[in-house]
Amino acid sequence: MITNTELEYKGNLYPNQIVDFKQDVDKFYFTTENGVILQITVLRNSALRFRYATENVFEPDFSYAISEDANRGYGSLDVEEKEDYYLILTSKLRVLVDKSTLRIQISDTEGNIINEDELGFHWEENYEYGGNTVKMSKITQNAESYFGMGDKATHSNLKGKRVNNWCMDQYAYGKDQDPLYKAIPFYMGLHKNQAYGIFFDNTFRTYFDFAHERRNVTSFWADGGEMNYYFFYGPEMSKVVKAYTNLTGTPELPPMWAMGYHQSKWSYFPESNVKELASKFRELRIPCDALYLDIDYMDGFRCFTWDKKKFPDPKRMISELNEDGFKTVVMIDPGIKIDKDYWIFQEAMEKDYFCKRGDGPYMKGKVWPGECHFPDFTNPEVREWWAELYKEFMSELGVHAVWNDMNEPAVMEVPTKTAPLDTRHNYDGHPCTHRKAHNIYGMQMVRATYEGIKKYVYPKRPFVITRAAYAGTQRYSSTWTGDNVATWEHLWLANVQVQRMCMSGMSFVGSDIGGFAEQPNGELFARWIQLGVFHPFCRVHSSGDHGDQEPWSFDTDVTDIVRKFIELRYQHLPYIYTMFWKYSKFGEPMLKPLVYFDQEDPQTHFRTDEFIFGDHILVCPVQEPNAQGRRMYIPRGKWYNYWDNTIVKGGKEQWVDADIDIMPLFVKEGSIIPKFPVQQYVGELVIEELDLDVYYKLGTESSTVYEDDQDGYDYNKGNFSLRNFKLNGKANSLAIQQFKDGAFIASYETFRINLHGLPFAIESVEVDNEEVLLKDVKPNGDDVIRIGKDFTQVIIKGK
Ligand code: GLC
Repeated sequence: MITNTELEYKGNLYPNQIVDFKQDVDKFYFTTENGVILQITVLRNSALRFRYATENVFEPDFSYAISEDANRGYGSLDVEEKEDYYLILTSKLRVLVDKSTLRIQISDTEGNIINEDELGFHWEENYEYGGNTVKMSKITQNAESYFGMGDKATHSNLKGKRVNNWCMDQYAYGKDQDPLYKAIPFYMGLHKNQAYGIFFDNTFRTYFDFAHERRNVTSFWADGGEMNYYFFYGPEMSKVVKAYTNLTGTPELPPMWAMGYHQSKWSYFPESNVKELASKFRELRIPCDALYLDIDYMDGFRCFTWDKKKFPDPKRMISELNEDGFKTVVMIDPGIKIDKDYWIFQEAMEKDYFCKRGDGPYMKGKVWPGECHFPDFTNPEVREWWAELYKEFMSELGVHAVWNDMNEPAVMEVPTKTAPLDTRHNYDGHPCTHRKAHNIYGMQMVRATYEGIKKYVYPKRPFVITRAAYAGTQRYSSTWTGDNVATWEHLWLANVQVQRMCMSGMSFVGSDIGGFAEQPNGELFARWIQLGVFHPFCRVHSSGDHGDQEPWSFDTDVTDIVRKFIELRYQHLPYIYTMFWKYSKFGEPMLKPLVYFDQEDPQTHFRTDEFIFGDHILVCPVQEPNAQGRRMYIPRGKWYNYWDNTIVKGGKEQWVDADIDIMPLFVKEGSIIPKFPVQQYVGELVIEELDLDVYYKLGTESSTVYEDDQDGYDYNKGNFSLRNFKLNGKANSLAIQQFKDGAFIASYETFRINLHGLPFAIESVEVDNEEVLLKDVKPNGDDVIRIGKDFTQVIIKGK
C-alpha cells in the first residue's frame, strides 16, 4: 500500500503544519500551510467524522450511504490548544490533532489509546484521471484483531490480510477470492478489550490492509474522492456495530413470510413445473413460503416481460399459488436488451435514461439478452421511472417480491466483467464516471426497485433482494452471497460470509443453500440446510445445470432431515421475527459471531464457525463429511444442549455429538424462547397458543418477544406487542415477570410454558400473587404449565 501505487510522479504528499483553526459548533477545521483542511465533526459522544481536503477545497458533501434517520447529539464538547497539539474532548473520547503533521490520536477519557495515525492522511495526485489517490495509515496496536468488511470470503479475523472493494460478478468464487459482489468499507478493530469501527465512506475502489504489508501498520486508501471516514468507539463491539448500522440505516420490518423457507432454481418453468413443485411441498409437508422465477420466465430475457409459451397467464398462476400459501418472487436485471421493438428500450432511449460513454455513445454490454444498454440508476428521474415499471407486475399480476441480480453491474465477455470506467453517471447531480459510481450502481438499482415495490404492494410490506451492495443498501434490500459452489469449503464460507455481513450492518442475508454451481450430495445438502435455517434469509437456489436441489432430490433420509430443520425454523418464527425487530429498531445484528458475543474472552477472537442466533441460541454447523459430531467452542456461561437438555459449562472447546440428523445447538440458560406450531407457510394457522420454552437459571436473564400483524404498517401506529420477560431463578423457585407494551392483540389466549432444567418438582404456582390449582395449569407433563398470556408475574415453587 501507500508506497506502491503506480503513480509516482510527485510521490506521496503530506499535510504540513497547522496554520489555522476554527470551530463551528460541532465541526472543527484545521488548515495546514500547504492547503490541507481537516474537518472533524462530532456526531455523538463516541462517533466522529474525519474529512480531508487538499488545495483548500472540499468536494460537495454527498453520500448514498448515510441514513436520514441517523442519530445525532452529544453531551459535552470542549477543545483545548496545547503547545504541540489541539485536543478535542467529548464525554467518551479525547482526540489529539498534532500541529506539525495533522496526525490524529484517539483515546478514551482515561488516556488509553484506541486508534492512532501512523503516517496519517497523505495522498498522491492522479495524473491520469485528476483528483487524488487518498490514503490513511494507522498504527496496528498490540494484539489487535480486525473484523467486518461485508462479504469477504475469508477468515473472520482479517488480521494479516489485504482486501479491496469493487462489486464484482464472481461465478463460482473461491475461498480468499476478492473482491466479490459487495463493497462495504467498514471494519472494526479490537485490542485490550476496546473495540472501535472505521467506515471509509468513499465509493471509488477502496483498499484495506490489515497489518499485511507491514506488521504494525493498518491502512486504507481509495482510487479517488476524499479521505472521508467515520470513527465509532465501543468499547463494546455491539455498540460499534449498532452505531455504524444506525448511521447507514436499518430496514423496515419485512413481511413475516420473507423469513420463511424459500425455494429457487435457475429456472423453474413452464407453469406446470412450478405447480408441480408447489404441490410436492404440500404433499410431503415441507413448509415453504416462496417460489422464485429466474430469468427464463421473461420473453428473451427482456425485463418486465413474460414468455407466454411458458407462462400463458401469470396472473392466474400467481393467484393460484398464493391460494396455496406460496408467494411468487421474480428476477429483474439491470441490462435492457437493445431492441427497437421493445417498449422499455424505446422509452429509455426517448427519455435519455441509459448510461453513456465518456465521449458520448451509449454504454453497451452483453448480458443474458445479448447486447444491452444500462439505465443510469444514479439519476433520480431514472429511479422514479424504474420504480413505476413495477406497477403492472405488482398491482395487476400480483407478483409478491423482486430479486435484482447482475447489478454490480455484470457485463459478459469483457475482462473487467463490468462497465468501462469512462461510463458517465449522474450521481444525483454530481456527474462522474464509473470509477466513482460503480460501487453504488447496484445499490441505486435496488433502491429504485424497493421504492416501486413498496408503492405497489401497499398496504403490504415490500421484500426485495439484491446481489450487489454498498454500505447502506440494507435500508432497501436483503441479499445473498452470490454464485457459490456445492462443496464443503463453501459451506464454511457461507457461514463466515453471513456472519461477517451481519457484523457489517446487513443482516438480512443468506447463501444459495446447497451451492449454486455443481451439485451437492445428500449429506452436504442436509448439513447446509441445517445451517441455512439459521440464516436470516433462507433460500435454496442452484444453477439447475447439474441436477435438482429440492428437499426431495436426495434419498428419503435426507428429505426427513430437511423437513425436520425447516420445521425447526418455522417453530422459531416468532423468535426470528423478534430478532428482525431488534435489528430494524436498534441495528443489532441478527447473528452474532462469538467475538461480538464475548469480546473479553480472547478465545473468541479467532473462532469462525460458532455464532449466536439472536440473543440466546448458540449454533455450530457441521462442515465436514462423515461426521458424527465435532469439536466446538462453547462460550462462557451455562448452556443447554437443545436436543437433550444436558447442561454444559462454557469457556472451553469440547466435542459435541451430532449425527447427520442433528446440528449442535445450545440455548443460553435463563432464556425464554417463543415458538409457533409448525405451519406449512406463514399465516396457514391461527396461532391458538404460544409456546414459551423456559430454560431455568440460578440468577436472572431477560428475553423479548415482539409481535404484530406480520405484514402491513399498523405496527407503526402502536399496533404491536412487545413482551419483555425477566426470569429469576432461585434454588427452589422460578419467577417470570412480564412487562408488556403496545396495543396489538395476539390471536392466542394462553402461553404453554415448557420448563427446561427445573431443579425441583413443582409444588405450587402463583400467578399475579394468587395461587392457582395445579390441575388448572398443568395440562400434560410435569414441566409444562399453561397460563393466560397477560400475566405480570408467575412464581413456580418447589420443595
Ligand atoms: C446469476 C445469479 C444467479 C442466477 C443467474 C441467472 O448467476 O447470481 O443466482 O440464477 O444469474 O439469472
